[in-house]
Amino acid sequence: MSEIALKTVTVLGSGIMGAGIAQVAAMGGLDVFLFDVNDAALEKARGVIAGSLKKLAEKGKFPAADVDAALARVRITTDFAAAAVPADFVIEAIPEKLDLKRSTFLELERLTRTGVPLGSNTSSLMISAIAEPLRDRSRVIGVHFFNPVPVMRLIEIVLGPESSPQALAATEALAKVMGKETVRVKEAPGFATSRINALIGLEAFRMLESGIASAEDIDKALKLGLNHPMGPFEMADLVGLDTRASTIRYLHKTLGETFRPSPLMEKLVEEGRLGRKTGRGVYTYDAKGNRIPDAAS
Ligand code: CAA
Repeated sequence: MSEIALKTVTVLGSGIMGAGIAQVAAMGGLDVFLFDVNDAALEKARGVIAGSLKKLAEKGKFPAADVDAALARVRITTDFAAAAVPADFVIEAIPEKLDLKRSTFLELERLTRTGVPLGSNTSSLMISAIAEPLRDRSRVIGVHFFNPVPVMRLIEIVLGPESSPQALAATEALAKVMGKETVRVKEAPGFATSRINALIGLEAFRMLESGIASAEDIDKALKLGLNHPMGPFEMADLVGLDTRASTIRYLHKTLGETFRPSPLMEKLVEEGRLGRKTGRGVYTYDAKGNRIPDAAS
């Protein structure tokens, strides 16, 4: 695999994570294609990126004079080929469905230049499973970001058994451009971060189900007693209960009973209470995303 100059990053999926990844790539001076099947989701992502850049500029964390240029470097599109063909690095941030990811990566292998690293922001799936149908599986690598991407400092690099040293080197170079730290983890369900984070979140739901404390008090306990920056329910609402539930179902299947899904979490997902993104999860939020006091249930 020859070395690829890093100029253009293509991000697939314009949800919370895809928008954040596109933003930090643009902040690093890269040209970005942000692809989604849904026009409205792309427009929303552009608004989210603009809002976050403004916030960072107001806090002096990003030059105010560069905000417009950074935003302009993010080109949104619903044309998959137009996004994939120019890529020097691809990061997939589409839903956590293995079949969908596999077919997407097959298309990417067909459309991108030989050697272009194909990264997945999967929060739990095996890199080898995503890469399985490809002819050249060495290009596939886990590039796991954290929400909110513009603020969180880590990229967890997940290495499949066939991920190449070139893909690893390119990912570390990309992280540097984005101003992120990295850790390397060999693939295993949930890697290092999601496995522990899911377990804490799951245990919190079990405690809530058994009525030992309110959601607010469990959150407060972990924040003030254990110095977690957010409580587990605040975190679940931030990450998205659907995302969290699908991770837990997968960890249950692969790692066993420790990760048995929580009936309460599943019920909230069924009711469409997915967290901040739908205005209601464990807690309720107003249109601006502010928590409505005493609305926990
Ligand atoms: N864009 C730009 N700036 C942002 C931002 C965004 N999207 N979100 C927050 N900020 C800024 C705020 O403006 C604020 O800046 P100052 O410190 O300069 O005032 C700073 O970040 C802190 O924000 P807040 O004051 O609003 O609130 P906070 O102190 O509670 O911090 C937080 C918010 C950074 C999210 C913090 O609560 C935190 O670190 N929480 C844990 C987040 C975490 O663990 N994420 C991982 C989730 S798991 C995951 O993502 C992986 C997965 O696979 C699903």
